[in-house]
Amino acid sequence: MRVLVTAGPTREALDPVRYLSNRSSGKMGYALADAFARAGHQVLLVSGPSVLEVPEGVDFLPVETGLEMFEAVKRHLGRMDAALFAAAVADYRAAEISDRKIKKDGETLKLELVRNPDILGSARASFGFTGTLVGFAAETENLEHNAREKLRRKGCDLVIANDVSKPGIGFDSDRNEVLLVFPEHSEAMPEDEKHHLAPKIVREIERLAAERATH
Ligand code: C5P
Repeated sequence: MRVLVTAGPTREALDPVRYLSNRSSGKMGYALADAFARAGHQVLLVSGPSVLEVPEGVDFLPVETGLEMFEAVKRHLGRMDAALFAAAVADYRAAEISDRKIKKDGETLKLELVRNPDILGSARASFGFTGTLVGFAAETENLEHNAREKLRRKGCDLVIANDVSKPGIGFDSDRNEVLLVFPEHSEAMPEDEKHHLAPKIVREIERLAAERATH
């Protein structure tokens, strides 16, 4: 299969030296890219800034902002059999990027932010993607309900949900505990290293892609 994986945070510039971002390390996405490559698939990893080493045998497309990630996915999605959106894309970016360093003139500073495009939400609706589509959901409450809503709304075959309020797993951790939410059922995967979870997730996606091919 040809597989696209988005990973890591995005970095949204405010001025030449500052940016908005989040705590995503890219570990889950990189572990998935690695597991797909080891299973013999052709992988394109579209990644925001991350200190992680690019897995062997993976094509790497580094990006910085949500808009750059959107453009990269738009350009490459058409030839993919499966796409997994593990990136923590910033929901907002600065309405205007100052070309000079913002001065600390006042006691308060107002920033105007505008919405970033929803890349996962555009896959079916705007890019016409017909392959196997996998989203992620980081939630602090109503995990399964919210993940199922996301699955339906964004036309996913699978949403991989994790509870980010649990200490020691998820964001910026080597470990994760996920709930796989499919259209007809859900399946919990007990807490484990991201590197052990990834090959199991790959097998689920191989199964979904094979099902899609026979329908
Ligand atoms: O709606 P929410 O942001 O919680 O959805 C999370 C899922 O959507 C993740 O798979 C994430 O990679 C993807 N996403 C995206 N583009 C955005 C925001 C989220 O692809 N702008």
